[in-house]
Amino acid sequence: MKKLVVMSFSSVPKVILDTDPGGDDIFAFLWLQSLAKQGLVEIIAVTTTAGNVSAQKTFSSACQILELGGFAQIEVGRGMTLDGELAENAAHIHGSDGMGNLSNTLPRPAREYETARNADEVLIDQLNALPGEITLIAIGPLTNLAAAEKKSPGILQKAREIVIMGGAFFCPGNVTPQAEFNIWFDPEAAKVVLNSRTDLVILPLDVTRHLILTREMAGAIAQINPHSNLAKLIVNLSEFMIKTALSHRETSGISGFLVHDAATLSYLFYPELLMLRRSKVWVETRGEWTRGQTTIDQRNGAKQRANAWVALQVDQTKFFTSFIEDLKRLMDVLT
Ligand code: RIB
Ligand code: CA
Repeated sequence: MKKLVVMSFSSVPKVILDTDPGGDDIFAFLWLQSLAKQGLVEIIAVTTTAGNVSAQKTFSSACQILELGGFAQIEVGRGMTLDGELAENAAHIHGSDGMGNLSNTLPRPAREYETARNADEVLIDQLNALPGEITLIAIGPLTNLAAAEKKSPGILQKAREIVIMGGAFFCPGNVTPQAEFNIWFDPEAAKVVLNSRTDLVILPLDVTRHLILTREMAGAIAQINPHSNLAKLIVNLSEFMIKTALSHRETSGISGFLVHDAATLSYLFYPELLMLRRSKVWVETRGEWTRGQTTIDQRNGAKQRANAWVALQVDQTKFFTSFIEDLKRLMDVLT
């Protein structure tokens, strides 16, 4: 008699998403919400950070996307406000609101940045409340995770796992010749996180530069219910991201854009799609030309203790098969 396996909510993975929406963050966010609707994951909280755009805008976008997916009850911790040029650093890719200038097509968020708890406080409280149970999915600069570690040394050890989109090892960077954006934006924070545990999981540009979501794929998802708000967001945000991706020559002329951040979910829910290398990873924090560069030591001598598993290969065909079908399910559930 086949044993019935019942996934009780208590047995599904618990996650906190740390994010800087961003167009690709939003697709990762929607994928996560689809998996939550399928009872495959429990979203404990979301924390937002400055990165692609300001902390205020990433907070607002995260609230809007949660409300769109029917998760308005989930807490959103706010990232620190930064001044000067760093505050708005990838608006040229993601639009001035980080959402392809589409934030005004969604209902205004019910929550205010000014009254939200700080992200590091949310991380510390949740990791202390559920030690060893929560996976941190970090798809923006690592500022919040480092702030939590500085405020409560050892707190990152209380996460079940930490899965990071960031870095570039055997391919060019995307913000300088050597550095990937999330690490480059706050390399000191990346150094704190890299020193916090020995089992970090890193999804670098080496794999995410192959994850091109095409106009056709976005259309296949939206056609489930083309007149819904979600469908319109998916199509219009894709069009915006495709335009900026092509103008920045990120997709070799293919009409698509890179869904970097979604790679973290393939590690958690479709791990067979990835090949990872056990590594000791460093980050450069001072170099005039190399600030934010990430390095694996491949020399033949004995190494200091490794601190990470670095994904270097992905099966992109199977990745998008699951990505598209899961997002279709979200469309189904929401309409
Ligand atoms: O380099 C890609 C990363 O930088 C992604 O997280 C994208 O959202 C941007 O933040
Ligand atoms: Ca991001």
